[in-house]
Formats: sequence, structure tokens, C-alpha cells
Amino acid sequence: MASGSGSNFAAIVEGCQSGKISAEVVGLIGDKPWAKVFSRAENLMVANELIELKDCNSKSEYETKIIEQFQTWQVDLICLAGYMKIVDQTLLSAYSGKIINIHPSLLPNYPGKDGLGDALRAGETTVGVTVHYVDELIDHGEIILQASFSVVGMELEAIETKLHQVEHELYVQAINKIISSK
Ligand code: GRF
Repeated sequence: MASGSGSNFAAIVEGCQSGKISAEVVGLIGDKPWAKVFSRAENLMVANELIELKDCNSKSEYETKIIEQFQTWQVDLICLAGYMKIVDQTLLSAYSGKIINIHPSLLPNYPGKDGLGDALRAGETTVGVTVHYVDELIDHGEIILQASFSVVGMELEAIETKLHQVEHELYVQAINKIISSK
């Protein structure tokens, strides 16, 4: 599930297509019609569906539509990849323990919309990425993997580029860790 650019989505798909991950990305659900992730899905030949909250009477109806699509696709694991909505109880209870997220900070530090920016503004010289199970709290839940790097002497643009590289590798590793524990 993604709302934006979808570089993590693409890294997961490419990981599966190249055999780095023994799994298949059966589909993408996006909630923003303009999101670049949809063109990435088309290029990578991944089924994709737009489901918008504005077309539903409630968040629960919205998540029920998502669950119906996941049931059609026979989904085993849901990877949030820049999905900018809070996952509510409807989806959480349907896929308990099967939803994971990537967040650009070393949780439990700097949850929220701008994990990297918050860490840098706080003067951190080491930043990082967390892949974790999703629970009812924001950017919370059991940590699967983390990776960090020093930002000393780096410009913001270079930090962001490095962060994305780290994210793409970490998400692949985290999914593999889940698969190998099954
Ligand atoms: C990533 O930084 C991820 O950690 C956060 O949202 C961003 C999504 O980037 N949750 P992209 O759309 O995968 O490029």
C-alpha cells in the first residue's frame, strides 16, 4: 500500500522479480490518484487498484473495500510503503500480525510524518530506518529490522539519497526475515 512516489514499492517488486525475495507482489493499493506509484506498478506489471476514502461513507467502509481486494488477491503480507493514512481497526483485525511498515527514523525515536527531518533538527549525527509490524499506534509495533548511518559532513540531498538506498535494502531484508521465520 502506498500513497506517493513508490520507490520502496519498486524495490520490493524488483526484489521479488529478481529472486532476492521468494515471494510475489500480487498487487498495489493506492489511495491517491496522482501518485507516481501507479505508473511504477504499470511498468513493473503489477496489478493495482485505486481506493479512495472520499468515495466511502466511513474509514471502516474504505478499509472493508481494501480487505475485499486483498481477499481476491489472497494476500499473506501487507507492506506499507509510504502509505500516508493511519491503519484502523477494521484492517488491523482482518490482517493481525501481517501488516508491516517502513519508517525513516530509528524508532521509537521520531515517529510521525517527518522522521528524518525531526532527527536532523534535533541534531542527531546518526540517522536510520526501521521496518516494524503495524499496531494501533502510529509508527509503533514490534521492530523487525533497523539500519543506521552517520550524517556527519553530508548535505541534506545526499542524506535523503542515502536514506532511500538504506530503506530499499532494509525492506527486502525484513521481508526475507519474515519469510524465513515461517
Ligand atoms: C519513505 O521514506 C518511507 O520510509 C516513508 O515514506 C517514504 C516513502 O517513499 N514511510 P517512497 O514513496 O517509497 O519513495
